[in-house]
Amino acid sequence: MVDRRTVLSGLGAGAVSLATSWPRSMSWASSGSAKGQLRFAFFTDVHARTEWETPVALAKAAKSINTQKPDLVIAGGDLITDGFTSLPEEVTPRWDTYMKNLHNAIEGDVHPTIGNHDLVAANPADGSKPSSDPRAEFRKRMKLDRTFYTFDAMGYRIFILDSIYVIRGKLQYQGLIGPEQMNWLREELSKTPNDMPIVLVSHIPLLTAFYAATRGALEGGKPNRVMVNNRGVLDQFRDHNLLLVLQGHLHAQEVIRWRNTTFITGGALCAKWWRGSWYGTEEGFNVITLRENHVDWKYVDYGWEAKRP
Ligand SMILES: [Fe+2]
Repeated sequence: MVDRRTVLSGLGAGAVSLATSWPRSMSWASSGSAKGQLRFAFFTDVHARTEWETPVALAKAAKSINTQKPDLVIAGGDLITDGFTSLPEEVTPRWDTYMKNLHNAIEGDVHPTIGNHDLVAANPADGSKPSSDPRAEFRKRMKLDRTFYTFDAMGYRIFILDSIYVIRGKLQYQGLIGPEQMNWLREELSKTPNDMPIVLVSHIPLLTAFYAATRGALEGGKPNRVMVNNRGVLDQFRDHNLLLVLQGHLHAQEVIRWRNTTFITGGALCAKWWRGSWYGTEEGFNVITLRENHVDWKYVDYGWEAKRP
């Protein structure tokens, strides 16, 4: 990565070398952990496709994830690219590549979250009729009955949300938890002990500093970039032990702690849509350990060099 940057840098060399020297691991106190230790990998924004040797990159990422020996793996969405605007036959090679080179190449269970790119034919670019069930292929490939669900691991309850709310018009979708899913969330939380530590996963972020940092302090992000009813969703967890929120969509890596909850935006396996680093975030994934009132986090750069022109 240094070589490519050195070649490209010139005048910006100083800034570039600073960017590459960011620490990619941290550990912090966070009360309310479970008795057991849970170590998991969280990868997001794969944008699987067949061009630019990306199948090789996915195999490389799978190998790197396996080296970390996580107890389980969580996928944050955008597993394939451009499903939303493509026809079912167009996305088959992308899904096949994702399944073969990454999902099925990972040892152990991968628990997937749906991203906007994973919907198929929600609004085809060629003007043909939108699918009546754009989540069908995701459910079929992931062997899920529903795109929002919970599971337990080592005393932690993991909530996986479907944050994609399809609308007509220019934005095509919003980050939103609709009434049906909100009712389900209330119901699930009523069955969850108040002190049970919770990990919440959503493709579209509930909390981010990305737009304030990159566009200015008065910018919060468009409705298709952030979750518009984030406060309504987070309010549901008011009397619960929400330890960690994992988010994708922005391809940048950030960590925010608000009260006792840490929000991690997980970078992207494809970084800048397979064009290299994005705001200093390399192609990579997160490894997180929850233990004894602590969170350990690191971002693993699996060593891919962008081949996209
Ligand atoms: Fe993405």
